[in-house]
Amino acid sequence: MTKPLEVQGLGYRLPGKGKGETGNGRLLVHEVSFTVGAGETLVLLGRSGSGKTTTLKLINRLLEPTVGEVRVAGERAADLPVTRLRRRIGYVIQEVGLFPHFTVERNVGLVPRLDGWPPPRIATRVRDLLALVGLDSDTFARRYPHELSGGQRQRVGVARALAADPPLLLLDEPFGALDPITRVELQREFKALEGRLGKGMVFVTHDVREGLLLGTRIGLMLQGRLAFLGTPDEFRRSEHPECKAFMAAA
Ligand SMILES: Nc1ncnc2c1ncn2[C@@H]1O[C@H](COP(=O)(O)OP(=O)(O)OP(=O)(O)O)[C@@H](O)[C@H]1O
Ligand SMILES: [Mg+2]
Repeated sequence: MTKPLEVQGLGYRLPGKGKGETGNGRLLVHEVSFTVGAGETLVLLGRSGSGKTTTLKLINRLLEPTVGEVRVAGERAADLPVTRLRRRIGYVIQEVGLFPHFTVERNVGLVPRLDGWPPPRIATRVRDLLALVGLDSDTFARRYPHELSGGQRQRVGVARALAADPPLLLLDEPFGALDPITRVELQREFKALEGRLGKGMVFVTHDVREGLLLGTRIGLMLQGRLAFLGTPDEFRRSEHPECKAFMAAA
């Protein structure tokens, strides 16, 4: 069976100092390889600046990889038109992403509408998804993002990412800016959803407790490389100094 995500030898180098180039040729991501099966959540854990967000951007081609291969549901990402690739990937980012002048309903139904679903089917899908993430349609569907709390906005973001039923979900610190109680609640709900959805997920966080709770595997990023890849238990027992540093902070 094809996996939602296969990443092989992924690397990204900033443009160099050559003519018309502004970067310094620095490697932001180097030799990153992993796979994510259906129903699995790979947590990418790492300090600020370790390359987590860059890795997600290389997967959905917000950045084009310098080397390496990404396959989404068995197809090479590089061979797919970007729009088709993105239809297969739900992307959830902190705060940004919801269109402020669209209602919740319209935000969640965005991709199905672009895909030309008939309106009644979109309406049903939106209602089901809002229920899935714990938001009552009658209360929330017609509100605008600024009429929601941060936690509610995050739920809408997750609902929108799931709308077209993509095999793969990329989540970049989705619970980062929430108060600790809401955060723990959403983590619990996410944990319950994970198994039910049967999707491949890559979940970025720098919170080791969140990572150990939600990950079926942990990938630890250090200076653009995957310094460790293993189960939460293997992570807890690892002698790698960076794993130990994170465990000391748990
Ligand atoms: N367009 C860019 N040009 C130059 N450097 C960049 C660019 N984008 C990211 N970087 C650098 O690449 C490194 C990795 O950034 P990235 O955003 O992937 O980190 P991160 O692990 O997501 O960190 P955080 O936890 O703070 O979100 C950082 O040192 C960052 O400054
Ligand atoms: Mg980041």
